[in-house]
Amino acid sequence: MKTIVSGVQPSGTLTIGNYLGAIKNFVDLQNNGEEKELFVFIADLHAITVPQEPAKLRNSIKGLAALYIACGLDPNVTTLFIQSEVTAHAEMAYLLQTITYIGELERMTQFKDKKQKQVEGVSTALLTYPVLMAGDILLYNADCVPVGADQKQHLELTRNLAIRFNSKYSDTFKVPEPLIQKTGAKIMSLQEPTKKMSKSDVIDKASIFILDEPNIIRKKIASAVTDCDGVIKYDPENKPGISNLLTIYSCCKNISIDEAINEVKDLNYGEFKKLVGDAVVDVLLPIQTKYKEIINDNKYLDEVLDKGAEKANYFANKMVAKVKRKIGVGRKK
Ligand code: TYM
Repeated sequence: MKTIVSGVQPSGTLTIGNYLGAIKNFVDLQNNGEEKELFVFIADLHAITVPQEPAKLRNSIKGLAALYIACGLDPNVTTLFIQSEVTAHAEMAYLLQTITYIGELERMTQFKDKKQKQVEGVSTALLTYPVLMAGDILLYNADCVPVGADQKQHLELTRNLAIRFNSKYSDTFKVPEPLIQKTGAKIMSLQEPTKKMSKSDVIDKASIFILDEPNIIRKKIASAVTDCDGVIKYDPENKPGISNLLTIYSCCKNISIDEAINEVKDLNYGEFKKLVGDAVVDVLLPIQTKYKEIINDNKYLDEVLDKGAEKANYFANKMVAKVKRKIGVGRKK
């Protein structure tokens, strides 16, 4: 039986990039009919690697729990939990840091990018973040990890750490595979389509947020930056704006890029954008409706998260105990 693990940071409002690149795939994996163990968590310890306002963070954690369910994750099938409620994550991160080199962390492109943006100074946790992530995955002996393209380098480090630990101490961890979709793994900004769409973009209309009102979604897509040659084709290098809209359209419609092109090639950009807007609204509206239904049901959300934490703690504690024995800390052999 396969084990699948992934997480999302509860920092700010989630974008359609988070949905198409990650959460939609969690749901597809959950529903693919194969027997599996699926762990999906709210990566709150990751969120605090940069400054957060406590009350806002607490709200985002709850919001993400509701959003996971609204997007189609079924808590009776998928283990949904909050990372910080499974203390083994922090413990495993520390244990893995003992075999991680500073140089490998300093080379991480996300660290280099995020470091530039810090005004209060760069926290140590921002540097060690990928080790925490490796721990998240290795704790559950994951076979595969569905993520967007921007997490690939972190997955490579995770694999290296698993291999390094296994060869230093003896076989302990499975070496996980990243699961990165061919289409949708990197949804680009609507305003600067050579840049990744991001929760923290300062330009609001650069990102479609999962909870944006339908008319806002349509407006943002209508004002997406394209080009002036009027031809709809997939060419990310020369036509990044149109290619991004084609990607969003094909993911929302569950069709290939070629099928999407066939459907829309004769339209002008205005007509095409309207169709993309409709496709995105068709996907997001039911999610928003479900979200509104459950976001204030604290009892239900607490039950889900308590149950998830209990199960995750069971697996994670077992793995941490094993790792400690292998390393030789504590008394147990
Ligand atoms: P985070 O919270 O930045 O993003 C969550 C997921 O969304 C994907 N993603 C995108 N996919 C396509 N297009 C985009 N524009 C886009 N933006 C984000 C990300 O690749 C990710 O899959 N470190 C992780 C969270 C994490 C994690 C883990 C993931 C912590 N521990 C263990 C997997 C396994 C992060 O910051 O994702």
